[in-house]
This record gives sequence, C-alpha cells and structure tokens, in this order.
Amino acid sequence: MKTWTKIVSAVASVTAIVAGTTALYYGTYLPRSAQPRSGHVPVSAERLTRGKYLFEVVADCDGCHSERDYSRFGGPVVVSGRGKGQVIPEKGPISPLVTANITPDKETGLGQWTDGEKIRAIREGISRDGRTLFPMMPYKNFSKMSDYDVESLVAYMNTLQPVRNPMPKMKIPFPISFMMKSYPEPVSNVKAPERGRNAEYGAYLATLGHCMDCHTPPDGHKLDEGMKFAGGRVFDTPLGKVVSANITPDPETGIGRWSEDYFIQRFALQRTYVVNGAPKLQPGQFTLMPWLNLSQLDPDDLSAIYRFLQTQSTIPNKVEKHPGTVQTAGF
Ligand code: HEC
Ligand code: HEC
Repeated sequence: MKTWTKIVSAVASVTAIVAGTTALYYGTYLPRSAQPRSGHVPVSAERLTRGKYLFEVVADCDGCHSERDYSRFGGPVVVSGRGKGQVIPEKGPISPLVTANITPDKETGLGQWTDGEKIRAIREGISRDGRTLFPMMPYKNFSKMSDYDVESLVAYMNTLQPVRNPMPKMKIPFPISFMMKSYPEPVSNVKAPERGRNAEYGAYLATLGHCMDCHTPPDGHKLDEGMKFAGGRVFDTPLGKVVSANITPDPETGIGRWSEDYFIQRFALQRTYVVNGAPKLQPGQFTLMPWLNLSQLDPDDLSAIYRFLQTQSTIPNKVEKHPGTVQTAGF
C-alpha cells in the first residue's frame, strides 16, 4: 500500500521530467534483473516450520495474498483460500489493486514456476516473464530476507493447497508503469543477523514485517524520514478508516512507557482470536495492523522488535487511531 501511495503522489512532480525522456526510453527500458537461480530449494521439517512462520506471521504474505474475512476483527484468513490472491477495491488511479495467486496451481498460480523464479519475484520484484512487479508487493523489504529464510519460505509455499483462481490483470497507468521499473535490483547471498533478543535481529524482523512502512507518514513520494515510526499514516479504505500508531519511544504519544513485557502481552491479547475465532468487527475497531498474525510471533522475537524500537528516535506525535469513534478497551 505504502509504495503505491508514494508513487501516486510522486507522479505529479515527475511527470514533466519524465515526459521529455519518455519517447526515447519507453518500451525499451528494462528493469535491472539477474537470471533466477536453478535447482530446487532444500526441504526439511525445520525449514518448512520456518517458512510457514515467515508466510503467516512475520512477513504477512497472508495479509495481501490470502482470502480474508473482513467482517471479523483483524480480517482472519479463510484457510481454504490461503494464497489464492486478492482483488482490493480502490478509488485511486489503479483500480482494482490485484495481488496474485501464489498457490502451486498450474494454470492460475505458481505451479509452473521454478523455485529460483519464486525467489526472484519475492526478493527482487521481477515476475516470471521479466515484468516488474507493482511495488505494493514489498520486495524492497524482502530483498533483505536471508537466503535461508527465502528458501524456507518457498519450500513452504510449495506445500500450499493449489487453488484455481484466475486473477484479473492490474492496469498500471503511465508514468507509474515506467517509474516502477527502476525499483528491482538483483539480490544474492543475504545473511540474517544471528537470532536473539537484541535490536539487530529485531531490525531484521521489523524489515520483513514492513512495520516502518505503515508506521511512518508519507512525505510526497517517499516516507517522511524525520518521522520514522511516529505513526499518523491515514488509511481511508472502503472498509473503514484507521491511522497508524506512534511506536517510537516517546513516553507521552508513543510506546515509551510500555515495558517489554507489556509490549509482548499487547500482541498476545489477540492470540485467543486466532485459536477461537475472531469476533464480529465492532464500529471503531477496523484496523490494518496485522494483529492476528503478529500475535503469533515468538515472545523472543517480540522482545527483539521491542528492543529495536527502543533504539529509534523519540518523536512526539499524538495520533488518534480510530478518528471520531469511542475506543474499546484493549484496542
Ligand atoms: C502489502 C501487500 C503484499 C504483501 C504483504 C505481499 N505481497 Fe506479494 N504481491 C502483492 C501484489 C500487489 C502483487 C502483484 C504485483 C503485480 O502483479 O505487479 C504481488 C505479487 C507477488 C508475486 C508474483 C506473482 C506473479 O504472478 O507475478 C509473488 C511470488 C508474491 N507476491 C509472493 C509474496 C510472498 C511470498 C509474500 C510474503 C513474504 C508476499 N508476496 C507479500 C502484494 C503483497
Ligand atoms: C498494514 C499496516 C501495518 C503494518 C504492516 C504494521 N502496523 Fe502496527 N499498526 C497499524 C495501525 C493502523 C495501527 C493503529 C490501529 C490499531 O492499533 O490497530 C497499528 C498499531 C500498532 C501498535 C499499537 C500501538 C498503540 O499505541 O496502541 C503497535 C505496538 C504496532 N502497531 C506495532 C507494529 C509492529 C512492531 C509492526 C511490524 C512487525 C507493525 N506494527 C506493522 C498498521 C500497521
């Protein structure tokens, strides 16, 4: 979502510049890309568990690629539609927003793709046919995903139930279609910091979980670097309106007064919804925060994320998360 908004708002300012050079490059300009690697990803029980954890919890592939029940709190995943793709209604210049069927279905999903092609799409943003993926797919974040993790993720994706679900083509207007070709970059040999309850590993998880993108307000065509994690990004969707929270260490308007234990509990609160089913969405509860998925984060991983967030600049920024509604306790 973020990059989409970014691009759309950038369009006005760059149109003039691009127009001059377009005639020359349009059609011939190709994204930077490398050959996908060959062979199959290694499979083991440990890797499958890791891949599932990345898909369902940390990187929230479910959030954009699986069928969801938005009539319930947090939009729980409809398991029979895991990975089948979503068509997201939008009022903007790209309507509808179409994700992709990433189940192993041979005709409408990734069934014919090699593992290398899947890895390239996830980390580099290049589709099987060489097309640049629309950067709402957070491949810039996923470019930081370690080789071990991306291989594990693909090993798990290969075990998903194939779902036949042809997706409509997304129409990306010029010049957005042109500008996004500069996004992809070849990626190889990525290592993750050693797993542990420390800020460095927390930064890795927060990158894969794209926390910053939702929790930083935009500034024209980019994220506002001076407001990292300060919240205030408005999501005004057909389903409801919600504003991201300030998660900097500011004691008054951020999470500066939260203890590490409280932070972990705040996520664990939603775990019962995953086990017992989420309740019907009440007015003022609509959110895009992936509470259900993130509630399943390992407590050590939540510690790492907490410790990383504590190293960020303290930025006072008061946010009303659910504008114009009475808050329900706990949300
Ligand atoms: C914020 C939403 C979002 C998230 C999160 C997301 N994706 Fe995507 N993904 C998209 C969109 C949108 C597209 C389609 C882009 C296009 O067609 O240009 C896409 C495309 C893809 C493709 C290419 C499919 C094709 O046919 O070209 C793959 C593979 C993929 N995503 C895998 C993943 C995996 C694995 C994850 C989790 C690690 C993930 N995505 C997380 C939005 C998302
Ligand atoms: C798709 C957008 C999105 C992503 C991704 C996202 N958040 Fe959020 N987050 C929100 C929104 C919107 C809210 C405010 C509404 C709510 O609390 O549900 C929020 C609320 C929160 C809160 C509650 C703060 C408070 O004051 O109550 C915390 C803590 C938080 N997010 C941490 C994270 C972390 C850590 C990550 C990454 C692992 C993350 N978020 C990823 C959108 C997002």
